[in-house]
Amino acid sequence: MKLLVTGGAGFIGSNFVHHMVESGKGDGIVVLDKLTYAGRPENIDGLDVELVEGDICDRDLVRGLVDRVDAVVNFAAESHVDRSIESPGEFITTDVFGTFVLLEAARDAGIRHLQISTDEVYGSIDRGSFTEASPIVPSSPYSASKAGGDLIVGAFQHTYGADTLIARASNNYGPQQHPEKLIPLAVLNALHGDPIPVYGDGSQVRNWLFVRDFCTAIERVLDQGEAGQVYNVGGPDELPNIEVVEAILELTGRDESLIEHVGDRLGHDVRYSLASEKTEGLGWQAAVGFREGIARTVEWYRENEAWWGPLRSGEYREYYQRQYGQALAE
Ligand code: NAD
Ligand code: DAU
Repeated sequence: MKLLVTGGAGFIGSNFVHHMVESGKGDGIVVLDKLTYAGRPENIDGLDVELVEGDICDRDLVRGLVDRVDAVVNFAAESHVDRSIESPGEFITTDVFGTFVLLEAARDAGIRHLQISTDEVYGSIDRGSFTEASPIVPSSPYSASKAGGDLIVGAFQHTYGADTLIARASNNYGPQQHPEKLIPLAVLNALHGDPIPVYGDGSQVRNWLFVRDFCTAIERVLDQGEAGQVYNVGGPDELPNIEVVEAILELTGRDESLIEHVGDRLGHDVRYSLASEKTEGLGWQAAVGFREGIARTVEWYRENEAWWGPLRSGEYREYYQRQYGQALAE
């Protein structure tokens, strides 16, 4: 099966491309990526795949590429909650309109569209876990834009009988994640002896999923998922943010003096938790627990300064200053 992998130069998309190539299923993969601040061609360097630089909102470009493949896996998105709070416009354009452009092309070509989505579309849950039947109640501009994409996917399936699937994952972590996200941010700051900003009291809970486990789930859903269905993919461990940061401090030989409690994220969701039995019913199971995954992740960042070094200057440095400069100076 030849795949169009959109957003394949980003964190999860590139890990998925590596996974498929390593599994002997990489033949004919075309990656379409706008190469925003989050997209990096080096993430898929050395792989025998075609990288096309372009926008999923470009209808002519998308149609030309969709005609060459057997299925679309859409990772392309603006993905960072804090940036969506600062400036939501691009999120609506890519995550909603871009998804529509891909769907329309896939429907017309008669091929499968797998939408990569998030637990955040369900909102926050104090107790228990979200199932695929839980209502969609997104909180942030990011999660609302992802929910918009999911709703259009559902509408295309219901109205036109398009062959669509949605995979909703919990928080991914692992190699090649941009340092704007909590885990790589904390790892790099700890390695440098810099303060680690923890929003509020750090009690918010996330359901951590090692990225390669999400990739095996995506492969299953793509191959065996039933058209029109949603599949939750949750990680094996739920942890409050403060415990995540403490684990990173331990692995990097630092102490808690680096923890800096800063003002809370606006509208911060308290807890995410996914029930993944439906995906497990396809024969999938997460293989990597948090303790192993975080150790592997810290090790990867230790060994790959050539990857993250350039990111610590330029656009990210400016963003970091806007997001944390004042809070960390106080
Ligand atoms: P990322 O920000 O690392 O990568 C996004 C990629 O999409 C980048 O390569 C970027 O250049 C590309 N892109 C952005 N706008 C584009 C456009 N208009 N056209 C083409 N390419 C474009 O994000 P990620 O963390 O790898 O997330 C990938 C997908 O998985 C997203 O859809 C996200 O919503 C979803 N997701 C992420 C997580 C997580 O924990 N990271 C969890 C659940 C779901
Ligand atoms: O749940 C899935 C989602 O996980 C994905 O859909 C998103 O694309 C992905 O970015 C991620 O969203 P989160 O907002 O949960 O991830 P982030 O790494 O930004 O934050 C994780 C938690 O850590 C969250 O409760 C906010 C907190 N945090 C984050 C940062 C960046 C801090 O305390 N300090 C920080 O500096």
